Amino acid sequence: VSRLLHLIEEENTPISELIVLLEADAFLGERMLKIVNSPIFGRLRAVTGTREAVVILGRRMVCSLALIAKFATYLDHDLHAYGYEPLGLWRHSIAVAATARSIAIKLRLPMRTSERIYTAALLHDIGKVPMNESIQQLGLSLDLARTPDEAPGIVALEQASLRFTHAAAGRLMATHWSLGRLIETVLLHHHQPGRAPEFRTETAVVHVADYLVSTLGVGSREHVPVGTPPDPAAFTILDCKPNFLSDFEARALLEVGTSLVLIDSM
Ligand SMILES: [Fe+2]
Ligand SMILES: [Fe+2]
Repeated sequence: VSRLLHLIEEENTPISELIVLLEADAFLGERMLKIVNSPIFGRLRAVTGTREAVVILGRRMVCSLALIAKFATYLDHDLHAYGYEPLGLWRHSIAVAATARSIAIKLRLPMRTSERIYTAALLHDIGKVPMNESIQQLGLSLDLARTPDEAPGIVALEQASLRFTHAAAGRLMATHWSLGRLIETVLLHHHQPGRAPEFRTETAVVHVADYLVSTLGVGSREHVPVGTPPDPAAFTILDCKPNFLSDFEARALLEVGTSLVLIDSM
């Protein structure tokens, strides 16, 4: 995983290195071929080689898909306690990642930062996987079915019933996998970006993307919006007004739709 992250973050690593990595990983290589041969790309003839697939998809998409495939085993859990539909966390995570990256691009953050934000956003809720298990084992339930304005917030609910949060669990997982300080920070502070001691921009972008995707109901059971209003500190950090999000909603929907179609073809 860390080699893949390194390849994604280094803009200048040659594409040949990416091809070597994919050829060495049968699972990733096979996924890539499946995608490139899916009807979305409308190829007249089947693509059979990894090299050709990488050239067709482009570096950026290959990197995103490789990451998604790598973490699929964690993200495709059925997290009933958190109000997700089956595969809901996966859809939510991919949607937040796609939205966060396009917010980063709209804010004119450097390409490298945008890619790091994508990775951090994809993993932002991964701590819900072990937490969901504990919640079910203890026979607890998190009462999420309230309107965003009156919901106490997922972190407060976790804190009250388990004295631990998915944000803290996610940080522990990132540390265990040696994913680096940026991802650790985003995972720990994605619900309160104002508390992040560093990587505040990255954390704030993931926070607002998470909020936007939650209001769209992507991944949640019954497709109802789940979540609390965004932390005002995020807008201060990003130096933009909250209505930035409503201006961005249509674009985010498009981004999310495209990603989900791709994932469904995997
Ligand atoms: Fe979260
Ligand atoms: Fe989230």
